[in-house]
Amino acid sequence: MVDIHSHILPGLDDGSPSMETTLQMLAQAVAAGTTDIVATPHASPNYAFDPEAVNARVAEVRAAAPPGINIHQGADFHIDYDLVQDALAHPRRYSINGGPYLLIELPERVPLRTVPQVVETLMRAGLTPILTHPERYFLLRGKVDEVKQWAASGCLVQVTAQSLTGMFGSTARKMCEDLLDARAVHFVASDAHDTQNRTTRLDAAREWLTGRYGAPRAEQLLEHNPRATLTGQPLPPSGEGSRKAGARERRPSWKFWG
Ligand SMILES: [Fe+2]
Repeated sequence: MVDIHSHILPGLDDGSPSMETTLQMLAQAVAAGTTDIVATPHASPNYAFDPEAVNARVAEVRAAAPPGINIHQGADFHIDYDLVQDALAHPRRYSINGGPYLLIELPERVPLRTVPQVVETLMRAGLTPILTHPERYFLLRGKVDEVKQWAASGCLVQVTAQSLTGMFGSTARKMCEDLLDARAVHFVASDAHDTQNRTTRLDAAREWLTGRYGAPRAEQLLEHNPRATLTGQPLPPSGEGSRKAGARERRPSWKFWG
């Protein structure tokens, strides 16, 4: 499996505090069947993102990592005025392996009508935004139709593995189910922060997905789609995964937002 969202880099944010913890997180990932993991430290007003420091930390982790897992680089990019301006000036600074795919996280308080504008702005810069864990935002509770509309307009969607298995509560799981039923989910990722509560393990989510939606769907969400982000390839042409990376011809239509 390929995990596109994790806080495994030691000492950069609220994820792993040490190389020792990082190596335990990687060992857990390997044991659960993950072959590739993207290190995505927060880029937010609370956690400054220094590309050189991230590069150096990724190199250290690669050198110490157990066999069987590849470390990739990205960011957990928070929507914030200054950060968006920086991403527009340096479109590949925060993206997965410097390709078109960019994880985006919404701030706690944001007028929902501004989200499509931000997404469209990022897409115009050649980026393909991936909205992280919509099921976990208080402001998006019950707003399945909004997320579906964003997905239909070009924004990809990632849900958290542990949301599927109930760790974030029944409301979050129900929203995941509604989005999956609507084929408005493109990735399942760990968003791992530690070795106890928010771990790198994706096997339980895979089992849940396989039982409810079948093995091909689980593979799409945990293997094929996330693997395409590593090399900047278009997502495989299968249902919800048919959108092209950075596709400019699919201009968003935000009529829903008036
Ligand atoms: Fe995250």
